[in-house]
Parts: sequence; structure tokens; C-alpha cells
Amino acid sequence: MSLSLALVGCGGMGLRHAYGYGELKKRFSGVRLEAVCDLHASSAGHVASEVELLTGERPRVYTSFDEMLAEEPGLDALDIATDPRTHHTLAVSAMEAGLHVLVEKPMAVTVKACRLMAEASRKHRRVLSVAENYRRDPMNRLAKALLESGVIGTPHFMLKIGVGGGSSLACSVGWHTRKEYGGGVLVEQGAHEADLVLYFMGEVRSVSAEAALFTPDRTFVASKERLSQYSEYRVESVSSNSPTFTLGQEDTAFALLRFQSGAIGQYTLTNASHGFGISLETVHGSLGTLMLPASRTGKGPEVRLEAGGRRYEGATLLDLVPEWELDDVTAGIWDGQRRMSSYDLSFEEADRKLIAVELQEFIYAIENGTKPEIDEVVGAMVVALAYAPLESNCAGRPVQMSEVISGAESGYQRSIDEGLGL
Ligand SMILES: NC(=O)c1ccc[n+]([C@@H]2O[C@H](COP(=O)([O-])OP(=O)(O)OC[C@H]3O[C@@H](n4cnc5c(N)ncnc54)[C@H](O)[C@@H]3O)[C@@H](O)[C@H]2O)c1
Repeated sequence: MSLSLALVGCGGMGLRHAYGYGELKKRFSGVRLEAVCDLHASSAGHVASEVELLTGERPRVYTSFDEMLAEEPGLDALDIATDPRTHHTLAVSAMEAGLHVLVEKPMAVTVKACRLMAEASRKHRRVLSVAENYRRDPMNRLAKALLESGVIGTPHFMLKIGVGGGSSLACSVGWHTRKEYGGGVLVEQGAHEADLVLYFMGEVRSVSAEAALFTPDRTFVASKERLSQYSEYRVESVSSNSPTFTLGQEDTAFALLRFQSGAIGQYTLTNASHGFGISLETVHGSLGTLMLPASRTGKGPEVRLEAGGRRYEGATLLDLVPEWELDDVTAGIWDGQRRMSSYDLSFEEADRKLIAVELQEFIYAIENGTKPEIDEVVGAMVVALAYAPLESNCAGRPVQMSEVISGAESGYQRSIDEGLGL
């Protein structure tokens, strides 16, 4: 079977998806990127040219999504890499037109918008897969295997702490600063963090949090070079050219999570720390501690056991999980390697491989009628968890995850939903 794909959204992440597609095409000829679409012709044209350079085939260029759907009746699937505010509208239209959908994280801008996508996926029997790259990193796969092997015993608590920022905001994309586009800075990054929390620790039962906006007046600074390189050509349509801006939503959340397993999580995310930053991601069990790896660095996890003060890192980790192997899709993209405790790739190389894995898993699900790993249920749960600290703060009480998932607790998201007429 050969699958015809279109990409909508040719900003920073759309370009990265194009590179992921190029990576996939090196190994797998059963997919063709027929068309790309962006509101800005220059952005769509740039991505089309990059695809042509990589594959020798130039996708057709559109500036209207509806026009692309009408003009491309042979499409099987759509890859969405627009800002989150648009995900549900594009996804639902695509599924109504019979297309399967791969959508960038977060699945949608709010939990309610996720629900619309889930309903369309079920009604039209279309695959809906969320392109979350972090958990697909082979080092996170290894960390998960270590947890499941029981090497650190029963997980008791997790620390997930991201402290950074200050009076600037490292960002090359204006909509990140606006709640109505993607939930705000804590949700934009929090969607990745929430996905990893669920991946490693399982479902969350309740969340109790305090949140605040401490530093509203900010200066834009370019993202780290590794990210800003993808955004140089994109057209900024949300923020003015001013180097300063006022953040309109919370920049700090401290949350306590209670997992269904009984374990506890400390989840802290702030970009309002002046002068000091730290990133700490650990799982503490009855026998030892797992230090989680930083995604896309190629550095592996680490295990420290209480007994004998033993420390496992590098290749010795593999002795702890003798049966562990990467899945076929990931191993294929990683040049056939099935077991590894680190990898030596640049950020760019790792990034495009992870996106190739997302694409190939999506295609596999379409061809075989299987569920993708991050389907409409997991994707919505991730969005709910990213919002849960803000919902708890907004409600002034601990919230049950069931309330956030059902929409019974949605005070923080209400203004976004109302603005979209949901
Ligand atoms: N997985 C990751 O590591 C990662 C990193 C960055 C961004 N993202 C996600 O990727 C998505 C896009 O983020 P980005 O940084 O590329 O944003 P961006 O603003 O650079 O790109 C979005 C593009 O979508 C286009 N667009 C918006 N609405 C459209 C429509 N109706 N039709 C056609 N084009 C439309 C815009 O013109 C813009 O060029 C977001 O969901 C974001 O959260 C994921």
C-alpha cells in the first residue's frame, strides 16, 4: 500500500516534520507527501523546497486548508503542525473528509476540543495519533523498561521539576505567550511533561496545586540555537515586532499529584526563576532511584540502588534488562539497533528520527487497523494533566483527574473554549 499524506502548518514544527518525513523516506517508500499548506505561502513554499531537496519530489503548495482538501481527493492522511488553537477544527474536517490524522502535541487547545476530535475519530473510524516525540526517545524507552523490570522496586514518588526563565522568555514563536492559542506557556511545555509523567508513572488520580504569574513583563530572547534554526523563515503573525511583551497567564505552577498506584508526584514548572535554573526528573522506588534521561540528548538514564550503593549507567544498564529491545519501528529508524544505553547523534539527527518514528507508527496503525500508542484517549488525558495544576489553582481546591477529563472542572479553560465557541 502507498499512503498519500498532506502537511498543514509549515512553521518551525512543520519544517521538522518535513525533515522527519525525509528521514522516513530513506528507508520506507510506501508514503508520499503530496501537499503542504500554510496560511503563509512563503512558509509552505520553503517546506516544499526542503522536501524536494530531501526526496526529489516537490509537494503541491496551498494557503487554504479547505482548498487543499477539495483539490486533493486522493489523500489518505493529514499531518497537523499548526498552533494548538486550530488542531480540533482541522482534525475534525479532515476526519469528516475520510482522512486519518496525526496531530502535533498537545492534541488540542483544551480538553473540550480534544473531545470533539475523539468523537470524530470514533464516528468516522479514522486513526487519530498524537505526535509526542519525547517518550519515543530510545533512552526513555530504556528508562521505562528499567522501571517495569522492578529494578528500583515499587515506585513511591516522582520528582518532575523544571525551573528556569526569569525576566526574558526564550521563545521564537509569539503564540506561546497567549493563553487562547495554546493554553499558555505552562501548557505548551507541560504537554510534554504531562505525557512523560503518565508514561512512566501511570494514571493520576488527583492534583493539588498553587499557580501564579510572577513575572508578567518579559523580553523575548531567541530560543536556543538548536530550535531557532527551524524558525528563521517562519512568518510571525501573533506578536508585534516589539522585543518586550506582557505575559497574560500563569508562569509558575507547583503541584502535588496522587497516582492511581498510590505513588506521589511533585510536579513543578516555572519560567519565572531569576538567576537560577534546574531540571530534575527522578523516580524513587522501594529499592532505588531512577534518574530519567533528558530527551533527545542521547544520554541514558541512571539507576542508583540502596543495596551496596550500586550505581548503573552506560552499558551496565543493559544487564539489568537482558530481555529489553526497542520496538520494530524505532529500531528500524535507528539503523537496526535494538539495544542501546546511549546514542551519539546531534539534536537535529535525533529530532528527525523521532518524528520519522511518529510517522511510521501512524502509517502502521492505518495499514493494520491498530491503535497508535498515543491515541485519542491518551492524548486527551495528557492535555487534561497539563491543565490540571491550573484547574486546581483556579478552583482553589484539589481536583480529581476524572473531573478534568470529563470537563466538570474546566474553569481555567473556559475563556479559551468560549473564545472558540465550544
Ligand atoms: N514536539 C515538539 O517538540 C514541538 C516543538 C515545538 C512545537 N510543537 C507543537 O507543534 C505545533 C506547531 O508549533 P510551531 O512552533 O511550529 O508553531 P509555528 O507558529 O511556528 O507554526 C504554525 C504554522 O501553522 C500555520 N497555520 C496556523 N493556522 C493555519 C491554518 N488554518 N491553515 C494553514 N496553516 C496554518 C501558521 O501560519 C504557522 O506557520 C504546536 O502544536 C506546538 O505545540 C511541538
